[in-house]
Amino acid sequence: MQEIKFYNGENIPLELHKVRVVQKLNLVPVERRLEALYEGGFNTFRLTTKDVFLDMLTDSGTNAMSDNQMAAMMQADDAYAGSQSFVRLQKAVEDVLGKKYLLPVHQGRAAENILANAYIRKGSLIPMNYHFTTTMAHITQQGGKIVELLYDEAYNLNSDYPFKGNMNIEKLEEAITVHGAKNIPFIRMEASTNLIGGQPFSIKNLRDVRAVADKYGIRLVLDASLLGENAYLIVKREEEFQNASIGEVIQLMTELSDIVYFSARKLSSSRGGGICTNDMGVYRDLEPLIPLFEGFLTYGGISSREIEAMAVGLYETLDETVICQSPGFIEYLVNALDKNGIPVVKPAGVLGAHVNAMEICSHIPQKEYPAGALAAALYLISGVRGMERGSVSNQRDEYGNETYADMELVRLAIPRRVFTLSQIKYVEDRMIWLYKNRHLIGGLRFVYEPPVLRFFMGGLEPVNDWPQKLMAKFKEDFGESL
Ligand SMILES: Cc1ncc(COP(=O)(O)O)c(C=O)c1O
Repeated sequence: MQEIKFYNGENIPLELHKVRVVQKLNLVPVERRLEALYEGGFNTFRLTTKDVFLDMLTDSGTNAMSDNQMAAMMQADDAYAGSQSFVRLQKAVEDVLGKKYLLPVHQGRAAENILANAYIRKGSLIPMNYHFTTTMAHITQQGGKIVELLYDEAYNLNSDYPFKGNMNIEKLEEAITVHGAKNIPFIRMEASTNLIGGQPFSIKNLRDVRAVADKYGIRLVLDASLLGENAYLIVKREEEFQNASIGEVIQLMTELSDIVYFSARKLSSSRGGGICTNDMGVYRDLEPLIPLFEGFLTYGGISSREIEAMAVGLYETLDETVICQSPGFIEYLVNALDKNGIPVVKPAGVLGAHVNAMEICSHIPQKEYPAGALAAALYLISGVRGMERGSVSNQRDEYGNETYADMELVRLAIPRRVFTLSQIKYVEDRMIWLYKNRHLIGGLRFVYEPPVLRFFMGGLEPVNDWPQKLMAKFKEDFGESL
């Protein structure tokens, strides 16, 4: 790993790119932000960007594209069937991910839909390191269940354990013994486990999972949406790979997996997604579902331009200077918040900084959604849009009961090469102020709750007038400042 040291000893993540296309941002007054919250049901997904200053909702589809990606888009071949853009993408998938057969899909959850349709039946169980919202929804829609098999350390938010995304091997063996291998169509490993704070697994762990999968004849599926970042952290943290390249580690991870699927919105800073494998049997199982749900097999619902951007983006995933930027900024923000006593998931992971709402808002019971409340409060006092990753993002159980999340997090996503360091410092500053005034944050309750993936479009309201009180304190301290 390359490191650039500052003479004065400061530890600052230096941008290794220059900004050539820019987009204007809006920082609207706090009064407007309060109105926007009410209009958007205190759900940051429902804000529109004219009211958002720093959009830290997600890195999905929001990473900055490179000049080479943009250039490649110009050579798109829009043929319905047999497009040369798809041929270029196939080559990129084979070169970068080491898989010969590619099924294109319009985004990551579409890959999950295809896999769930093909392999999940009532009574199926999918062991995984941890669920992702859309993954779980697709599995349960088909009548399957999931079981999450992390080590206890993963639930310790204030930790220095380098591989919290590791799957607990003893629990995996136990789950297979209890439920029977025939009821387990695949084991799922998620790279840079999203919902526990973007935490990686190690190659050693993946090898151990592979050995168990082989022992019982079960397929191993890798969710590779955040593969580059997981590989980057393996090189940084796993001794055996300290001299390896990101590309070598990626190849090792995909070699150990029978099926690799991904959201290209994340993996290759484009749009789209894919499922790839070297197993013709798997390819044949999935092939008929692509024209049914996505589009013809050489575009899968993705525009040809995006397919070109995806191919170039995949190669760029191998470039350490592309991959290191977001984790570098995240580490910077996590350290800065931690230094100020703000509970934040440690060690710093990828995708974003994750603040611990369960602790920050310990006065708000889980049934009043502390992470949702903290995300709304942060938006109100800063215009920064984070994402609730707590109980609002959980789904009710099969009997309709609320299930509370293991962690109540607010994710402050840092997409690749989008923000500047002064913007990150602004987030730090406003979080410090909010933490000092956290007693003013109150709870939320649902007024509109969709039956599936409720966090996307659900509407909430504050349990009392806490937003007005928080705004009043903001104005007292900041005067006319935005
Ligand atoms: C780990 C993981 N899997 C799957 C998905 C779904 O991908 P998409 O948003 O492209 O549907 C995401 C999206 O954030 C993700 O983080």
